[in-house]
Amino acid sequence: MKITFYGHACFGIEISGTHIIVDPFITGNPLASHIDVNTIKADYILVTHAHQDHVLDVEKLAEKTGATIVSNYEIVMYYGAKNLKGHPVNHGGTFTTENFSAKYVNAIHTSSFADGSYGGQPGGFVITAEDKSLYIAGDTAVTMDMKLIPMSTKLTAAILPIGDNFTMGVTDAIIASDLVECNTIIGCHFNTFPPIEIDVDQAKQEFLNSNKELKILEIGGSLTL
Ligand code: NI
Ligand code: MN
Repeated sequence: MKITFYGHACFGIEISGTHIIVDPFITGNPLASHIDVNTIKADYILVTHAHQDHVLDVEKLAEKTGATIVSNYEIVMYYGAKNLKGHPVNHGGTFTTENFSAKYVNAIHTSSFADGSYGGQPGGFVITAEDKSLYIAGDTAVTMDMKLIPMSTKLTAAILPIGDNFTMGVTDAIIASDLVECNTIIGCHFNTFPPIEIDVDQAKQEFLNSNKELKILEIGGSLTL
């Protein structure tokens, strides 16, 4: 499972030649101006919720690649009305393909499109493939529902928001990593906008103090689980 960070909360995940993009927001992110969205491969576009900083490039990417949009019912219907292909799930449900599965799990947040359309309830995903499992929390507060995840899944890594203001910040992300029983954390949803600017070195140190690792990828950088 190869994970590439495209900035903010957007990640590419490559599994045995299958390309997943999560929450594409590239053309609107000044920190990701060196990423050309037209070169990104996608077979599946996973969308956690409808906020603009998670869906801005969904249409462009889906039109170009023909990828299947996997998200909650309301989001998939929204794009279906624009003739884009999708597969709806809802909380607790798992979308399964030959190469991976993606379970839509609870998040505490809101979800509406930029035009005011209802975006269903927000979620996160647990992606499992090749004996590895990756939790993508989406935009969320820390929530006791996170304790449900390790009851069914031993996580290899977790992508957690750490920027505070719109989501949990570092202190709560450390609590979240305890709840999901995973000490390998990949940070996201920080520094893109002034309200979510953080001191990354201090964040890494706080995780270290709790015997956890906070991995911060360069935008365009990758790691393999
Ligand atoms: Ni959001
Ligand atoms: Mn967001």
